[in-house]
Amino acid sequence: MKPESVLLCPLDTAAAPEPELLCIFGTGDFGRSLGQHLLQSGYRVVYGSRRPHSCGPLPQGAQVMSHATAAQSSSLVFICVHRENYGFLETLAPQLKGKVLVDVSNNLKKNLYSEANAEYLQRLIPEAHVVKGLNTLSAWTLQNGPSDANRQVYLCGNSAEAKQAVGKIAVQLGFTVLDRGSLSVAKELEDFPLQLFPEWRLPLRLAFGLTTCFFIYVVIRDVIYKYVDQGKDVSFRMMVSLPNKVFPTVSLIMLSLCYLPGIIAAIVQLYRGTKYKRFPNWLDRWMLCRKQIGLVALGFAFLHVIYTLIIPIRFYTECLRNVLCQCHFKFKENKTADLDTTIAWYTDSYYAMGILGFAGFVLLGITSLPSVSNALSWREFNFIQSKLGYITLFLCTFHVYLYGWDKFLFPSYYKWCTPSAYMLSLVVPSIVLVLKLLLLLPCVDRTLTRLRQGWERTDPQ
Ligand code: HEM
Repeated sequence: MKPESVLLCPLDTAAAPEPELLCIFGTGDFGRSLGQHLLQSGYRVVYGSRRPHSCGPLPQGAQVMSHATAAQSSSLVFICVHRENYGFLETLAPQLKGKVLVDVSNNLKKNLYSEANAEYLQRLIPEAHVVKGLNTLSAWTLQNGPSDANRQVYLCGNSAEAKQAVGKIAVQLGFTVLDRGSLSVAKELEDFPLQLFPEWRLPLRLAFGLTTCFFIYVVIRDVIYKYVDQGKDVSFRMMVSLPNKVFPTVSLIMLSLCYLPGIIAAIVQLYRGTKYKRFPNWLDRWMLCRKQIGLVALGFAFLHVIYTLIIPIRFYTECLRNVLCQCHFKFKENKTADLDTTIAWYTDSYYAMGILGFAGFVLLGITSLPSVSNALSWREFNFIQSKLGYITLFLCTFHVYLYGWDKFLFPSYYKWCTPSAYMLSLVVPSIVLVLKLLLLLPCVDRTLTRLRQGWERTDPQ
């Protein structure tokens, strides 16, 4: 057989092209960290400074010049100075003409200025191409390199070429870039770093509201009722026993609230006969914070488990004394205590359901972490969050039904004609599970699947 011929190209002996030179205005923390990261990524860096000879320590390998000279040496300038100091840039308009200016600034407060910093910069130097970007990064991120949680950077600007040039650099620095459109979006990008857990606000408010309401409810039923009815002071229960009623109640309700919007959305789609109409805003917002609602619910479930574990410790001494006492008397009377297997079945079952439900809950929490969910395909993620989610909801609900057992039937449990907290906690999860079962009926499921594949129902005229 003839050996395959291989074309051997000699290595290019010509000098490698010089790395691109980028200019940075501003020698503060951000400017220095950016320069350092650019140098590490293979760029050359020149700083523009008011006092080139006394501007403090700069990354090794960077040059420093006056603003005007530095601006002339590069086609792209990062403006790492505060908006309040932009005035000097106007005098450099001739040197900055036609250049790409990257505005990385942020403000200390929202709505401090009517116009975005980047738009203001564009107004000062109309002949430059201003791009807003990298402002969601901190100097710390730039020093330590991007990680999963802060890999994304946003860009906006009126010139596509300018955005492309900045995007190329951001990718070289290890970031992923999302083009948000024209410079009119700059204000939104500048507001990003000022937001404080925006998607957590609703779940935390919900958790706080539910916890407060249920705590007041159980205090009235379990402490005040006892005092009024029997004159006994059991207020000490507010420290452990009552929180251990409130936390699991809130957890179960919030877990079911993660699945309720999906069911409402399915019903809306079935009713409209199309998936192409927008959901109402409140439903959109609710769907967007399902992960956070689930994580808060998981936190409450953890508290329930910890409280459940410490309750036996608290009662340990007293119970041990009682048990020893009873055994002592039974021994003296020569009696043996029969094990009530029905009660043993019911207590063991509700413990088992609780433990399995909690295991499912933890798994759901783990798979919602970005580093884990990124390693799963969409199908795997969907399978876990949906199938395992409903199984978890079912197990936790069943845990509480078993815990209630026959207590639902005895009027003495309805103090002042009010149901126990756990009975209330069962309302939403039971509704969600029943509706889910209805949606799984073959005729409904088939229509829903077709709708989600793009089919639309045309109503007869
Ligand atoms: C009640 C154990 C997980 C929801 C209870 C009780 C125990 C218990 C001992 C009775 C508490 C009392 O008498 O006051 C466990 C164990 C779990 C677990 C060992 C897992 C390791 C869960 C989970 C949920 C949940 C994941 C739901 C998200 C509830 C509810 C009650 C309850 C709503 C009724 C609270 C009340 O009003 O008294 N559980 N549980 N449990 N559990 Fe769990």
